[in-house]
Amino acid sequence: MSHFIQQEIERLQETYLENTPKSREVFEQAKASLPAGNTRNNLFFPPYPPYFNHGEGCKLTDVDGNTYLDFLSDFTVAIYGHSHPRLRQEAQDVLGRGCNYGGCIPAEHKLANALIDRFKGIDQLRFTNSGTEANLYALLTALAHSQKPKVIVFEGGYHGGVMNYCHENIPINAPFEIIVVPYNDPLAFEQALFEQGSEIGAVVMELMVNAGGCIPATEIFAKSVRKMTRELNIPLVIDEVMTARLGYSGLQGQYGIEADMTCLGKFIGGGFTIGAFGGKREFMEIYDAQHPGYTAHGGSFNNNVFSMHVGAAALNEVLTLEVMNSLNDRGDQLREQLNLLFREAEVPLMFIGTGSVMNLHLTREPLLQKNRNPLSAEIAKLYHRFLLNEGIWIAARGLIALNIALNDDSYKALIDTTAAFVDRHQKELQALPER
Ligand SMILES: Cc1ncc(COP(=O)(O)O)c(C=O)c1O
Repeated sequence: MSHFIQQEIERLQETYLENTPKSREVFEQAKASLPAGNTRNNLFFPPYPPYFNHGEGCKLTDVDGNTYLDFLSDFTVAIYGHSHPRLRQEAQDVLGRGCNYGGCIPAEHKLANALIDRFKGIDQLRFTNSGTEANLYALLTALAHSQKPKVIVFEGGYHGGVMNYCHENIPINAPFEIIVVPYNDPLAFEQALFEQGSEIGAVVMELMVNAGGCIPATEIFAKSVRKMTRELNIPLVIDEVMTARLGYSGLQGQYGIEADMTCLGKFIGGGFTIGAFGGKREFMEIYDAQHPGYTAHGGSFNNNVFSMHVGAAALNEVLTLEVMNSLNDRGDQLREQLNLLFREAEVPLMFIGTGSVMNLHLTREPLLQKNRNPLSAEIAKLYHRFLLNEGIWIAARGLIALNIALNDDSYKALIDTTAAFVDRHQKELQALPER
């Protein structure tokens, strides 16, 4: 780590420690029973993260009573902000009617229809409990269809805790026969198909690698992958767990392509636990239990009443086409404003992303692949610490995801605080090696 970054993080940490004694107490108790005191690694940063106990509108409150403007929105889930009145009412209604029927409920197809209306490539779908599970099922469905063993994924891709291709040699990745190909490189993809095409049973891709730093696919890459997989009859699985919120028909709609299988999750349950995988009828019909020889698909909480009801209300009544478009336009504007600020200060920083989701990078140019400069992640940590002490919540890796409860004052606070960050560190930032 650069000397200046380390020194500054230590300085900011002193204030953080003073502000968060109760979070520290919770952490000390939690770490005995939970590795690092939590159950979701990306929430942890040293010495301990704040522990929250309240969220309202665009604000979060921690156990010490500190409030934060929420510019992370639960890594894209909380697109509605917190305690949205319509969604709260729906959840309360459900609670009053019991929640473990062990039977089918009408809200299942209402939520399914809301998604099918949006995604042209989905004729039918099934719900799961998480995006990870949705990806596993989508891929297994594709492999069952193609009857071939190998899977192409892209560098920097993250399809859940057990399908993580952001780093090499992850010991707990699901044991598929994986071929990892560079992102945004149609020639490398073509080469992989040329060498092993006859054995490839599925390709899994994101149209913006999220965990890899919100790097959007180039149009030519997205279209070539679709064209080549179609020509060779290889099922294409598009993971829209995080990107479905970036267009009314997800990023597939923006790029004008259709997956054979699509994975969804995060916000589609109105803030409750969820995942979904769906696609063309020819892929999904194996689950049709009206026919002999169907394939089993289960899950105790697949149709949990909170996710089904609140999800349907959220998609049908809250997250309309206009609301989604306006949030994504706001994201494009914000990214432009922040990047202008960096350019004017001549510092090598840039937010990269699409619409309402973006990540800070140490670079002056848009990136096509995962940022390989280790200092980029370190700068993101420093920015995160700076914002944290000023009451703004983003991810430690520099991820920002907007929600509809943020207002003009919230955006101004983020821009002013970023300007103060740049002002304080302008000289040191200018001296950082960009590669
Ligand atoms: C693109 C993508 N796919 C899959 C997942 C996994 O979803 P979940 O965390 O609900 O298991 C995530 C989660 O961040 C994701 O970003």
